[in-house]
This record gives sequence, C-alpha cells and structure tokens, in this order.
Amino acid sequence: MNLDQAREELARLSALLGQANRDYHGADTPTLSDAEFDRLKRRNAEIEARFPKQKRDDSPSEMVGSAPADGFGKITHRVAMLSLGNAFEDDDVLAFDDRICKYLGQPRGAVSYTAEPKIDGLSLSIRYEKGEMVSAATRGDGETGEDVTANARTISDIPQRIPMAPAVLEVRGEVYMSHADFEVLNARILEENKALEAAGKKVKTVFANPRNAAAGSLRQLDVRVTKERPLQFFAYAWGELSEPLGSTQMEAISRLGGFGFTINDLTQICDTPEAMITHYRRIEAQRATLGYDIDGVVYKVNDLALQGRLGFRSTTPRWAIAHKFPAELAWTKLEAIDIQVGRTGALSPVARLAPVTVGGVVVSNATLHNEDYIAGRDSKGGVIREGKDIREGDWVQVYRAGDVIPKVADVDLSKRSDAAQRYVFSETCPICGSPAVREEGDAVRYCTGGMICAAQATEKLKHFVARKAFDIEGLGAKQIEMFYDDPDLAIREPADIFTLQTRDRQNLNKLKNRKGWGDQSASNLFAAIDEKRKIGFARALFSLGIRHIGESAAKDLALHFMSWEALATAAETARPAALAWRAADLAEERERLLAQKEGRRARVKESRDAAMAKCDVGIAAKSVWAELIGIDGIGAAVGLSLTDAFANPEERAAIDRLVQELDIERPAPPRQESPVAGKTVVFTGSLEKMTRAEAKARAESLGAKVAGSVSKKTDLLIAGPGAGSKATKAAEMGIETVDEDGWLALIDGL
Ligand code: IVH
Repeated sequence: MNLDQAREELARLSALLGQANRDYHGADTPTLSDAEFDRLKRRNAEIEARFPKQKRDDSPSEMVGSAPADGFGKITHRVAMLSLGNAFEDDDVLAFDDRICKYLGQPRGAVSYTAEPKIDGLSLSIRYEKGEMVSAATRGDGETGEDVTANARTISDIPQRIPMAPAVLEVRGEVYMSHADFEVLNARILEENKALEAAGKKVKTVFANPRNAAAGSLRQLDVRVTKERPLQFFAYAWGELSEPLGSTQMEAISRLGGFGFTINDLTQICDTPEAMITHYRRIEAQRATLGYDIDGVVYKVNDLALQGRLGFRSTTPRWAIAHKFPAELAWTKLEAIDIQVGRTGALSPVARLAPVTVGGVVVSNATLHNEDYIAGRDSKGGVIREGKDIREGDWVQVYRAGDVIPKVADVDLSKRSDAAQRYVFSETCPICGSPAVREEGDAVRYCTGGMICAAQATEKLKHFVARKAFDIEGLGAKQIEMFYDDPDLAIREPADIFTLQTRDRQNLNKLKNRKGWGDQSASNLFAAIDEKRKIGFARALFSLGIRHIGESAAKDLALHFMSWEALATAAETARPAALAWRAADLAEERERLLAQKEGRRARVKESRDAAMAKCDVGIAAKSVWAELIGIDGIGAAVGLSLTDAFANPEERAAIDRLVQELDIERPAPPRQESPVAGKTVVFTGSLEKMTRAEAKARAESLGAKVAGSVSKKTDLLIAGPGAGSKATKAAEMGIETVDEDGWLALIDGL
C-alpha cells in the first residue's frame, strides 16, 4: 500500500466506521456485526501505524460514543491557532536562542524566556465577550476548529464568567486528563462492559492513553457524556484580545491565573539557554510523578514586544519552540530491507519489521535513512552506533518521537546470526534499472532514470494530483497507476492529463469502455480536469514536486516573483551563479572533511559569499541568485533545486508543455490594506532599530517584495546611515526614499 492508497483507505474506513457508530449509538440499530466492526477498526489502526502522518482528525481510533467531527459546528479562529517548531537536542535550544538574538540584533544572553511543560492533551480556545464565555473551539486545522462550547462548559477549570476580563478575551490552553482519572475511567468502562456483554450489546473499547481519553471525552456530541468525564485545563496562551494582558509572557499568564484559570506551576523564567536546559532536565526528572502526561518543555520569549517583532513563519511562531523528550523505544526483528524510489528519484531504504508496539502504536516499518546509516556512518563519514552496521535478520531497536516516522536506532550484535550478510546498497534503481548515483557531498543515492523510471514518474504524477496539489476529482493515485501504462491513453507526465480528452476522442472514445468507467464517469473526469486548468501560481509550482519546494517555499516563491515567466527567467538567469555556489560549497565541505581526517582546523580561507563575489559569472546571474536565496524562507537548497529543474532540458520541456495547458493565476499579495502591498522596496545603509532580517520579514509579511538592488521596478528605497550608490541611483531615477523612521511611520500599527 502506498501513501495515497493509505489515505483513501483511511477515509473509507472513517466513513464506514463513523456510520456504523452512529447507527449503533444514535439510532440503536447496529448495521455491522461486532466482529466486522472490530476487524475494520483493527485494519484502520494497522494502516495508521504504517502511515502515522495520514491519521485523520476524525480517525476511528479516537472514536467514542457517537461520531465526532462532522456533528460539530465550525468556528473560524480570529487569530490562527499555530503549532510549534521542535527541538530535540540541547544544541537545538542554543540554536533557537542564537536565531532569535540574531534576528533581533541583540547580543547573546540578552533575551529571556519562559519554560513550561508541554502538556500532551488537545488545545482549546475559549472566547469571552464582556466577561461572559461565548464559545470554545478545538484547534482543527489551525484556522477553523470544532465548536465544543457546550462540552467546554462542563470543565470545572474553565470559568464561565470573568467579571474583570477585557471586553474581548480568548484564552488558549490544553484540555487533558490526569493519570488517576484515566485509570478510573478505563476501569469504569470495563465494569460497564460486563453489563453490556451480559445484555448481548456491543462493548466499548478502553482508551489507549490519557490524550485519547481527553480528546474522545471533549469531542462528544452528547454533552452528558463529557460532563461525566473528569477533564482538566491548563491555560498557557491567548488569541484575540481587546487589550494586552501584560508586557511579558509571565505577566500575561499570571493574569490568566488571576481570572481563575489553572496555570502550570512549573512555568519559570530563564535568562539563558543553559538555564532553559537545566529547567528542562528538572521537569523531565519529575515527569513520572506529575500525574499527567507531558511530552516536552515549551520555551517562549518572555518580552511580548519582542514576540511581536519576531512574529511568525508560515505555521509556527519564531518566538517559541517545543523541546521534546526523547522518543520511546522497542526491540524487534528486522525482517527485510526494501528500497523505495520516491518522486525525486531518491532511493530510501525501509526496514520491514516484525510488528512491535512503540509508545502505544504498532510499528512494522521504519526508515533506515540512507546507505551510510545502514553501514554505521553519518553523512559526513563519522562513525555512528560504534560503527555497527545493520543487516537483514538483525535484532534492532526502533524509536518513535511524536508523530514522526519510526526510525531504527540500534542493533544488538549478540543476536546476529552467523549467516547474516552485510547489506549491499544497490547501484542501480530497483524499478527501472538505471544507474543510481550518489553525488559527492550527498547522503542520498538518486535514480538517474528521470521520467523514464516508472516509480519516479508515477510518484511525481501522484504528487501532482494530490489534495494539496491539483486535487482533480476522480483522478487519484489508483487512476494514475492505471493510466500510466494505458496503451492508448497513457499519462506519463502532467501535461498528458490535460490532453487526455483530446487523445480519447482521437482514439474513438475508448475510456468509457474501459473496466470501471462509463459515459458518465469519463465525462465527469474530463470536466474535473478542465476545472483545474485555472490554478494558483503557488499550487502549480508545488505540484511539480521539485525537491525542497514544498507548499511554503512554493508560496514564498510565487509571492516574490508574481508570474510564472518571472520565476522561469530568474531560474535560468541565476543558473551559472547557482552552479558556482554549489562548487564553492563543495570545496568548503571537502576541506572540512579533510581537516577532520587530518585532525586540524579547517582552512576556510574565505566565506562562500566571498568566493561567490569573486567567481567568474555574470553580474546578472549573481544578483538574481542573491535575490532568489534572499527571499525570506528560501535558502540555497531550494534555489539549487529550482535552477536544476529549470535547466534540465527534458524536465524544462515537460514543465513548458504543462504550462501551455494551464491558466496560472497571479497570487494575491497578502494584506492588501497595507500601504506597501505589492510594492518593491530596497533596504540600504545600516538600520538601527532592527536587523536587516527583521526588516525584510516585516516588509514581506505586509505584502512588499524586497529586492537587493535599485532598478526601475523599485518603488521605495529605505536608506539608513552610510547609504551609498543605491541612494544615489535612486535619487537619479526619482525613486521615493525614506529613512528608517520614515519607514516605521509608514508601516506604523500594522
Ligand atoms: S504554546 C503559538 N504552550 O503543543 C504557540 N503549546 O506542538 C501556541 N501545547 O498546539 C502554543 N503545552 O496544543 C504552548 N505549554 C504549552 C503547551 C502547548 C501543550 C500544545 C498545543 C500546541 C502544540 C504544538
């Protein structure tokens, strides 16, 4: 089963089990036998264990009583409910602090943080207007959640009225169930099951963990059930406010405490990353005795004005991070190593395992990363696992952290059979037989077959039609597999989807006579395809499945370049500089590796930027490359991969053929109301009130495009002290110029 099939099957099972559940509880008329119900539920759990990321919000595993999800009204959050970035190692915490200080232009140690437990429950946003609780909503997709107002009113930690609250107050926090209450609840379910069993009725399943119990209890259509469940709530954040709650995170949280909310007493202010890590260890040591589940520690910049300046990346705040506890472990047998070929041609080794429970989830597949990892080396040639390699038949340790793909961590040599052979990583693609090559400095081996490799081509096409991409009704993974090899109607590249109808007519309307197709379904498909000819720029770009260009990079690129032609031209123009950059990067990496081997410090004579500045490529290429990798959120990896794709003749031809079939819409710049939306601005000279990075991120979040040099497209120059040739050029060209204060006044209050 592949990813798309898993997603489809999980959707089908969710609908089927949801209906059966409603029939049973709601109408009291079971439509499935208990055995069949359990079998489907098991199948669902198995697929979820293999594809944890595909687990649905309305997963039948979380189902208790009557169906959740679609029974609830929806509430759109006025302020999005975001998630948090993760830190796993102490170094990640240092890097987090470093990033923040750099962004704010502050010396190390200048920023203080709060550190508090990360509660493993489900988040809830409760709205108060004039001191009265008016609604409560789950996080949902972050923008829209489920209306669980009536359920939330039954939680005693949540005040119904707050006389001294600001006129508008949204309190956010975590709903959870204590260990003690969880045990009692499960014991009660088992007790009630005895009676149900005696009456020949379907028994209820006990909850796998307190988080599931809390979620299942809150998302109950029958509020009477929620009322009987002992749920608790910790307040740790807020959404919309009519007035600030304080000037620091700590003050604001204490204020929530004053309103009657429970706030976590392990919350503490830390002045350095070292203090944060110390507090993390302290919380970790108390983890087992807290009486409720936590899965890490959350750090937040304490000063709310700084939080405001730091703002957000697409789905996470820059000013907070979750430091997760180490993952859960289990030992099992590695039955086989399979190689999967992804849409970018990457060969990924997958461990097929004897099923084992890790942290409450059954795991039967895990990633082995790449060939070096199997051999006992990291991607830089360093030794890992004391050099132990991994072989088929070995006894291996598997771990899972949060919802990430399970990984193989270690191997037990004492249990290795004498017959076990060292794993030899194939140098050809297991699907198309093309050479699979590994570039210097790259950890991954790639199939060179491109679109002639059936695995790459079908994976690329499946990505192309996926929900977040073209999302064509009736054209999913299954149909892609079918059409790929069709003798008359082959879909081998994205453009073929859009020529399908014409080709079908030329072939005397064959589709409607194919198995599983008829007149209606064929014409529905053609209509669905036509409907998607008009498509947003970012979506079209994301759909191409270019390495490193995910949804967020596609959005950033689209907003920066605004038209497909501009992007394509930039990719072409920047190409020579991109290649020079790659060469400089490789040279630096080579020297680093050599130095490591020889036990000396690396002689990095000059920075990559300096090497780039000197190298022999045209000024246009250099400046467009600098522009490209200077876009907030875009780095060299994205830049290289974009220029690679547009420079590869076959790939470029396929892209051009696709673009001809489409009507690509210009992206709407965000925050139309801002005075700089859609304008091109250039910063020059030094800024005193913020760093360049902050100024740029701020301008881009207001819909401006930030360019590196003055040209006739420039609308505004922000010139600080020491501005030189750019200011002169702008003056000659009659371009409006302001100083830093003028710029701040212009965007004041936005
Ligand atoms: S702060 C903008 N603090 O973790 C960030 N989140 O992985 C707002 N969570 O969706 C979240 N304990 O459900 C924050 N002390 C805590 C938390 C916490 C648990 C959850 C929350 C969030 C998720 C992100």
